[in-house]
Amino acid sequence: MIPITRLSIGEEEARAAADVVRSGWLMNGPQTAEFERLVAEYVGAEHAVAVSSCTTALHLGLVAAGVQPGDEVICPSFSFIATANAIRYVGATPVFVDVDPGTFNIDPELIEPAITERTTAILPVSQIGLPADIPAIMKIAARHGLTVVEDAAPSFGATVHGQRLGTLSDITCFSFDARKILTTGEGGMVTTDDGGVADRIRLLRAHAASVSTADRDRAGRVILETYPEVGFNYKITDIQAAIGVVQMGRVDEIVAERRRLGRRYDLLLDRVDGVVAPLVPEGFEHVYQSYNVRLETDRTQEQVMTDMLDLGVATRRIFAIHTQPAFRRPEQPDLPVTLEAADRTILLPLFVGLTNDEQDQVVDALGKCL
Ligand SMILES: Cc1ncc(COP(=O)(O)O)c(C=O)c1O
Repeated sequence: MIPITRLSIGEEEARAAADVVRSGWLMNGPQTAEFERLVAEYVGAEHAVAVSSCTTALHLGLVAAGVQPGDEVICPSFSFIATANAIRYVGATPVFVDVDPGTFNIDPELIEPAITERTTAILPVSQIGLPADIPAIMKIAARHGLTVVEDAAPSFGATVHGQRLGTLSDITCFSFDARKILTTGEGGMVTTDDGGVADRIRLLRAHAASVSTADRDRAGRVILETYPEVGFNYKITDIQAAIGVVQMGRVDEIVAERRRLGRRYDLLLDRVDGVVAPLVPEGFEHVYQSYNVRLETDRTQEQVMTDMLDLGVATRRIFAIHTQPAFRRPEQPDLPVTLEAADRTILLPLFVGLTNDEQDQVVDALGKCL
């Protein structure tokens, strides 16, 4: 069976995690600080704050952006459920906007007509490894005084005109779950150039305590901390962060290999009828969390996915959030491109360690299914 992903994680990560266990300090500590330093340096951001997941990163990003209950936040529906859940966590309403038919990322042209006096933020998703058109979205946000909180969960290392995601939007959120570019098991990171935002997220991730546990521990005197507001427990552990530090040491190699595999799929699929490779606009660099193809066939997505599984290849799909029961409304938004994309695209396996033979098998299987 060729799985949708296979972890690229080994002895070095295991040793780093074990070292933390032996160190006697398991929570948010020196490894977390080092992981944050490495990520900030890599993406070129002033600040990186590690949290427990991208979902919690998005939640705190929206809080730090000042989004209030009753506000509207513009986002795509063609995404993972966490994108819209985070908007609900702050009591705001997700306003779903359609995606571009080529890139399947939010269509910037459709953002401005969706802005109302209740809109306070835009939450674009850099989906499956391909950056959304963040420069265009930032211009719209500036015209309307909105904050851009980017969901870049699957796109760590991707670039727009040579600049890595992480500083292009006001607040960028990454995921390090098991299927992502780098993994710490579960984990997330917020990057920003805004010191105020970073400080606020640091505070809120640890119960909004006036003094951190580590600082109290080091002080050598009694410090009675206070809790001036309601915070969250969204900390990452040092065990996870230590794995992240090792993964950061291999990030260039991981990103280069994912790009190589993406280009190889492009070439192989050129010879298969009924399937369209992902479009990567000029100036944008894809990091291929997975490889998203559009099917041009009479067969349904589910039939193709089932046949692929029978041939030993796991696939996945991205869905339309607004069609899920938790987000379905009597008056559904009109998102034809999203519905078509959710119905007609599937994700093929792409991970470091996928062999040429396995990749050939995936393409052969797809050819047979179509
Ligand atoms: C687009 C997108 N946003 C958010 C998330 C949530 O990330 P996490 O699992 O780290 O909370 C994911 C995870 O799959 C995702 O794909």
